[in-house]
Amino acid sequence: MAALHDKFGRAITDLRISITDRCNYKCVYCRTGNEGALFGDLPFADYLRMARVLVGMGIRKIRLTGGEPLLRKGVVEFVRELSKLLPVIHGAPDALVRGGQIGARADEGVRPYTSNHPLDIALTTNGHMLADLAQPLKDAGLARVTVSMDAVDPDRFARITRVPTGYDNVLAGIRAARRVGLGPVKVNCVLLRGFNEDQIIPFGMFAREEGVIVRFIEFMPLEEGRTWSPATVVTMDEVLARMAEYRPLEEIPHAASETARRYRFEDGIGEIGIIAPVSHPFCGHCSRIRITSDGKIRTCLFSVWDHDLHGEMRRGASDEELAEFIRSVVEKKEERHHIGEPDFVHASRTMVHIGG
Ligand code: 5AD
Repeated sequence: MAALHDKFGRAITDLRISITDRCNYKCVYCRTGNEGALFGDLPFADYLRMARVLVGMGIRKIRLTGGEPLLRKGVVEFVRELSKLLPVIHGAPDALVRGGQIGARADEGVRPYTSNHPLDIALTTNGHMLADLAQPLKDAGLARVTVSMDAVDPDRFARITRVPTGYDNVLAGIRAARRVGLGPVKVNCVLLRGFNEDQIIPFGMFAREEGVIVRFIEFMPLEEGRTWSPATVVTMDEVLARMAEYRPLEEIPHAASETARRYRFEDGIGEIGIIAPVSHPFCGHCSRIRITSDGKIRTCLFSVWDHDLHGEMRRGASDEELAEFIRSVVEKKEERHHIGEPDFVHASRTMVHIGG
């Protein structure tokens, strides 16, 4: 079976699975404040089957998202089941795969795989319930976490998330994740003009003090409130200029499929990243597909349709038929997003119902 590719030749190796579209935060740049899930979720056994089929097609990395994934009871057990899946490296000699050199490609020679687990499993969370779950998740086979955190000041944090007491929980979650080795811990900060652009330098300090990689993300038009405009975006260039006022930065080379440009402070202490989908799109290197909490495949954050993988399962499709369905869907993956262009059409779902 050939590896999963789209019609532009991009290899699809990263899968994101949203396991709920509920969230206990109401971040101003994401939610309007409504309660409850719109699309609902599926039994873990269904996500597991989808993951198994996709791993057989060349997926090497799975990230669990939401909503807030830690709201879902059974997430630890799900991670444990996922960690039993073995990636299939297409094109590599069988011996290479069996020998545990997963991540090596036949044409690259043998490159050691750095994760403790054959399948790279990560999770994006708001961190609110992470402190108690970090160790069990680690034990179940999770490799890393990314924590969303948009201010390093409790009052500002409360104003953005609209949760009065979240800050201490999230900080405790980040520290627990580091302590148990769910690292490198990444902290995602969405910058929104008028709300938190003055947090850039404090986040630089935070990265150095807490030993986490802080990644600034340009705001994209995926929010429920339709507040996005080009003027609301704090761009990569702005972040770099502001951070340089604090301390000199030097760029670290990043892999083509990595969304973040990486920088370290000149003295070697602390790393930051910038994810700039608006000012510096990286669609040409996109290696991702997403499964929503209700079992739809999305081939792009900005897709105007999704593809009903769970519907195929309900109809009784075999694994081979699911694989065929997936292949035909991936074939249609969009070339790029059209943010900021006159022909931009809003995605058919907002971020909380897609998973980041
Ligand atoms: N633009 C950019 N990033 C966003 N996120 C949520 N909504 C948006 C948006 N409209 C971030 C979350 C999370 C990651 C998955 O995406 O804060 O860290």
